[in-house]
Amino acid sequence: MIDEPTNHLDIKAREQVANYLKHKKQGFIVISHDRKFVDDTADHILSIEKSNILMYQGNFATYEAQKKLSDTHEEMENAKLKKSISRLKQTAAEKAEWSRSKESEKYGNPHVKGSGSIGDTGAIGARAARTMKRALTLQKHMQKDIQEKEKLLKNIEYIDPLSMNFVPTHHDRLLTVKDLTLSYPDSESSLFDPILFEIKKGNRVGIVGPNGAGKSTLIRAILGQFAGKVSGEIGQPQHLNVSYVRQSYDDNRGTLTEFAETNHLDYQEFLNNLHKLGLERNVFTTKIEHMSMGQQKKVELAKSLSVPAEFYLWDEPLNYLDIFNQEQLETLIKTVKPSMLIVEHDREFIQHVTTDVVELKTVG
Ligand SMILES: Nc1ncnc2c1ncn2[C@@H]1O[C@H](COP(=O)(O)OP(=O)(O)OP(=O)(O)O)[C@@H](O)[C@H]1O
Ligand SMILES: [Mg+2]
Repeated sequence: MIDEPTNHLDIKAREQVANYLKHKKQGFIVISHDRKFVDDTADHILSIEKSNILMYQGNFATYEAQKKLSDTHEEMENAKLKKSISRLKQTAAEKAEWSRSKESEKYGNPHVKGSGSIGDTGAIGARAARTMKRALTLQKHMQKDIQEKEKLLKNIEYIDPLSMNFVPTHHDRLLTVKDLTLSYPDSESSLFDPILFEIKKGNRVGIVGPNGAGKSTLIRAILGQFAGKVSGEIGQPQHLNVSYVRQSYDDNRGTLTEFAETNHLDYQEFLNNLHKLGLERNVFTTKIEHMSMGQQKKVELAKSLSVPAEFYLWDEPLNYLDIFNQEQLETLIKTVKPSMLIVEHDREFIQHVTTDVVELKTVG
């Protein structure tokens, strides 16, 4: 039983694990949000849907294609149902209106002389009652149809597009890194071979490299939070609003209200972002330290989306996030085009969202 093996792992390690499982062929259940990894290792997919659990024979691509088909089918059924419901509603309303008018004819209008003649009332009244009954039956059918429709739509995931509090900057250049290398005080060698790059307004630079290459350390150095030896240059404008997603965030604790307060977040905007990321409302009262790993990641990410920022530093944003979130993030970045530096081991994501890639090579 293997629970999310690829989080934090670099490409080489991901491939090693995938190869091992591929050749093992059977005898394991693996939980993973890593589409490529699932494609490489699984021959059956158990999908936990909103209302049931479904088994698909094949890999992730098979599951995705079949899920798309069944979602499209549900949506078409829904459209048909909606049309027939609105027709039913109209007919029911017309019939109800007709029977009401006949009822009022029966009792007559006291202001109009000669109305309400006793001879007509029996027949008209009975017909009106019958029509009213039919209208009620129709309404009952409608209710049933609506319930059927709701049942049909149970398995479709509705995904809201994300938004971020991106503030356009007047700086042309947000980061300049020149011949830079870093080393920790207790280490003799530097972490990586010297690097050189810059991030101009609207650039999105991906940082890639193996585990331990110094990617997170580089981000901390950019933020001025690195106490070791810096050789080379890191240049940034003064007074730049930066939003940071940390790779490790287990110090996020307490209720969401407390968290929003300590981090000076607009509470409503923060909750809104959490909701869009798929955090169920009943989790809003759970303390962060009790949340699942993915939910805790949503908190760290929603924080970054909520603070006003000209520049984003995201350290492995995809760890623990589900496929829907990964797609949401990709769409968000492609739409907003913020200035960013992203560390991520998922090469496909990096290829899709960045404008440049810098590779950290370990020394030696
Ligand atoms: N405080 C520290 N003191 C000494 N060495 C450290 C310290 N923090 C990190 N390191 C070492 O520095 C190297 C770089 O760590 P870093 O977290 O920056 O790697 P990374 O590229 O982000 O790796 P990953 O892909 O696993 O996140 C690692 O070998 C790590 O063990
Ligand atoms: Mg790291």
